[in-house]
Amino acid sequence: MQQRQESLGMMRVFSGSSHPELAQGICSHLGIPLSPVLHQRFSDDCLYLQLGHTVRNHDVFIVQSISAPTSDHLIELFMMLDIARSAGARSVHAVIPYYSYARSDKKDAPRISITARLMADLMRCAGAQHVMTMTLHSPQVHGFFSVPTDHLTALPCFVDYFKGRDLSDTVVVSPDIGHAKRATKLATALGGLPVTAGNKVRISDTRVILREWVGARPKGRRHALVFDDEIANGGTVFEAIRALKDEGVRHFTVACTHGVFAGRAIETLAEMPEVVEVVTTDTVPIPPHKRVPKLRILSVAGVFAEAIRCNLLGRSVGKLFAFWPEEEEVEELEPGLQHAE
Ligand code: R5P
Repeated sequence: MQQRQESLGMMRVFSGSSHPELAQGICSHLGIPLSPVLHQRFSDDCLYLQLGHTVRNHDVFIVQSISAPTSDHLIELFMMLDIARSAGARSVHAVIPYYSYARSDKKDAPRISITARLMADLMRCAGAQHVMTMTLHSPQVHGFFSVPTDHLTALPCFVDYFKGRDLSDTVVVSPDIGHAKRATKLATALGGLPVTAGNKVRISDTRVILREWVGARPKGRRHALVFDDEIANGGTVFEAIRALKDEGVRHFTVACTHGVFAGRAIETLAEMPEVVEVVTTDTVPIPPHKRVPKLRILSVAGVFAEAIRCNLLGRSVGKLFAFWPEEEEVEELEPGLQHAE
């Protein structure tokens, strides 16, 4: 108990301007105040930031989602990490609930940047000794960070929200094969629901085509729980709903960790009578005009607070991942067996 008080007493949490509400929520869970930041702009548009409390010999956590305007939020994050490091912080932690650049994770066209890797390098360069983030676009992006990184999940929040419902006529749908494992974990935790994944081809930023279904056939199911890592402009989820309707699915619950809802994505979902509910988390700030009645926002503040607490006390964060049925909790590996797929 004393160790806990001392650890929390020597920590500071600061928020960038992207999502102070979530930072405040994390602090409320930890039972500490959110430290202030002076945020100004010079007349030539350059940023001026000042941390409002001493950080000398403190464990410093900077909370910043890389939501729009992404470039401004990144520069703020780099500056705050740099300030903490150069002002004598004992440890400097970047808490990034939404890492938008995780989608730029491969060279799939000539002369482009793998920006997810570049930004990870810049964070380390700016002073981050440790990163905490959530549901990266692909799990491999975790490896782009060359400092210790906790890649957290919002799955327990979704499981808590959906469990206890009658899901007997439901198929869990990942619109993308790359996200099928996460959808399978959700389906397993909800009692072993069937899972199907879309073979998706992205034509442009706004247009995708779903070629076929892989896994359980959605045909015969009246309800689909469409689960993805994020909804940006909605092209993916709209195409998934269109293709599922062709299979006879009548009602849809749409769930995603990162509710970016660019353009008219949320308004369009709100206008679709077959969509009964849209469930997301608060990794991305959602302005009041986008909070339509069928949108439900689950908070991940408790997940980040618990991960911070575990880090301060030198404890495993493993319990934050242990939400699946007990019999699958321990996975024995044969010696030498690779996990590659
Ligand atoms: C892509 O592969 C992701 O899993 C999401 O499906 C994608 O980021 C969603 O973007 P949008 O809503 O713009 O289609």
